[in-house]
Amino acid sequence: MSIVRDRTGLLRIGGLSLSELVREMNTPAYVYDVDAMTAAARALEASFGGAPHLVAYAMKANSAGGVVRALTGAGCGVDIVSGAELRLARACDVPPERIVFSGVAKDDAEIDLAIGTGPHGIGAIQIESVEEVARVAARARSLGRTARVSLRVNPSVDLTGATHKNIATGHDAAKFGVPREDAPRAVALVEQSPELRLVGMSAHAGSQFRSTSPYVETARVLFGLVRGLRDEGRARSLAYVNSGGGFGIDYAAPPPLPGGDVATSTSNPWPADFVQAAQAEQRAAGLDDLALYVEPGRSLVAPHGVLLARVLQPKVAARRRWLMIDAGMNDLLRPALYQARHRIVPIQSTLTEETTSWRVVGPVCESSDDFGDHDLPLDPPREVAILDAGGYGYVMANVYNGRQLPVEVFVHDGRVASHTVRVDTDAWVAERARAGA
Ligand SMILES: Cc1ncc(COP(=O)(O)O)c(C=O)c1O
Repeated sequence: MSIVRDRTGLLRIGGLSLSELVREMNTPAYVYDVDAMTAAARALEASFGGAPHLVAYAMKANSAGGVVRALTGAGCGVDIVSGAELRLARACDVPPERIVFSGVAKDDAEIDLAIGTGPHGIGAIQIESVEEVARVAARARSLGRTARVSLRVNPSVDLTGATHKNIATGHDAAKFGVPREDAPRAVALVEQSPELRLVGMSAHAGSQFRSTSPYVETARVLFGLVRGLRDEGRARSLAYVNSGGGFGIDYAAPPPLPGGDVATSTSNPWPADFVQAAQAEQRAAGLDDLALYVEPGRSLVAPHGVLLARVLQPKVAARRRWLMIDAGMNDLLRPALYQARHRIVPIQSTLTEETTSWRVVGPVCESSDDFGDHDLPLDPPREVAILDAGGYGYVMANVYNGRQLPVEVFVHDGRVASHTVRVDTDAWVAERARAGA
């Protein structure tokens, strides 16, 4: 864990004291321990034990160039979901063949970009419907190229209770993936298209799984399908199976302990546990001649970032105490969108102060701009850190209420390697004033 509280009560990320950092930085600011992200990627890479694989980092989780470069430098490829992410991946020098493109509704320009990138197109366009097969084939034909494709299958598993409904994608009612029963027909269509080459079969059942069971169930459905096709002498061009991302993290782990001790969670599977469970299913289906792809996002980045915020003021009423901070739902959307709870801790503590329950809220004019109840010092701290904010944080930030995007700070080797600056509101005011004028 990269976020610790030292013996003097200072919260540190990647060795750097947040109290020191906040003196020089505007807030709200995302602060990332890039070295810890690299270490997480390396550990996941090692967990494959030499078997052919690709960790396709789902860059939607955190698309900062410094993060993408660190993870690809540690051996990852990327999973992208838009033409813009493809261009960004290329700008970060990700080789085309190490890019897979998920996305339920790609436009023609995005498909063309994927087919036209590099000498042979990207690693695979992951087709998500029977209808998309003909669209990708037509685009490849018009470009005079062959497109490498994978079919993303919706495994149709019961995900009740497995994760929040807004991030469950592998069930019957979800828009994602080729319905499991249509998969053989989609494979036949791909194989009848001379412009397409079926290189993979994939599934991604959702995000933030706290147990390996839904992941294993998904892999079992996918690998069973592939086994069936191969037993019929089909899908001979396959190079990989892809069991997706979704490795959960423990947002409810104990807070960093004084003295630099790491409070480890015992209740959460590690990313490597998901890989090993998928490998066992792959072996059981007799598919170990194929590479295994996985698409983790959150687990590689979220635990290694915080959102640093200043406390603006307390508001104490008869029955409740609010702590108003300068970070809101526009900066970190997860609590409003998924009813997510992130731990919030002071960046400096005397280690002995009296605490009380504060309802931590942001400045946005929405009741859902609410980070929940947190035990914090009775004498309110000047700054707080919202933990586990390295994934699905900045990437979802927006300028609602005329607020500006948060700053991002990249910590490497115990110091600030680089940071962005807050854009002032002049441009926003001018652009809004011009709109419709
Ligand atoms: C297709 C696909 N792959 C991978 C991921 C990454 O999931 P996670 O960040 O939970 O690992 C997502 C997340 O939405 C996704 O949609």
